[in-house]
Amino acid sequence: MSKVVAIDGPAGAGKSTVARLLAERCGFTYVNTGSLYRAIAWAAAGKGVDIKDLKDDFLMGLDLDYVDGKLLVNGVDPGEELRSSACSAAASFVATQPRVRQFLLPVQRNAAMKGWIVMEGRDIGSVIFPDAAYKFFVTASVEERARRRLEQNANETLTFEEIKKLISERDYQDSHRAEAPLCQAEDAVLVDTSKMSIEEVVAHLCDYISQNPREC
Ligand code: DC
Repeated sequence: MSKVVAIDGPAGAGKSTVARLLAERCGFTYVNTGSLYRAIAWAAAGKGVDIKDLKDDFLMGLDLDYVDGKLLVNGVDPGEELRSSACSAAASFVATQPRVRQFLLPVQRNAAMKGWIVMEGRDIGSVIFPDAAYKFFVTASVEERARRRLEQNANETLTFEEIKKLISERDYQDSHRAEAPLCQAEDAVLVDTSKMSIEEVVAHLCDYISQNPREC
């Protein structure tokens, strides 16, 4: 059994905040795996490489390393550029490619070498750490996720309906790709956060972990 708390789920369900707070509370290292796919899209854009045709040479030239919880790409912190809409869309496409997922597998597995981690993504409990000590599938309705995005982004230019459509499209792309699609692992605990605050979700996961001790 790996010393991993796997948190999977669709975009915008509050996974990142929940995973970060849970890691802080438990004293574990927080690892956001979406950043890896975003980093590949970001590095490709920077080098003028076509994301439809990512070659081994390009991937092998990428040094992706987590330093103090921050992802460095060949020693550089891409910062907020990873969160841009262009990077989100490109990352979702990059993530459909088997070669990319194969390349990122050891990067993610190595992150658990130094002790307990909370790792967040789409396929952590199903593919990266099928033997994770804890698995949670954190989700929320499309309406609620659109509402949260509007509330959180004061500069949002899209309407509620447009955001809902974008979220549904990204869900479809993430859950219908051939390689490691977004899905709830059979043994994962489902957490629907539609009617829960972030604090309630974190407390729920903490309670679950303390009530279900694992021998690792
Ligand atoms: O969690 P995020 O929005 O930062 O993820 C960016 C993209 O990467 C998203 O389209 C899904 C994909 N992804 C994935 O396929 N597998 C993961 N473990 C994490 C993210």
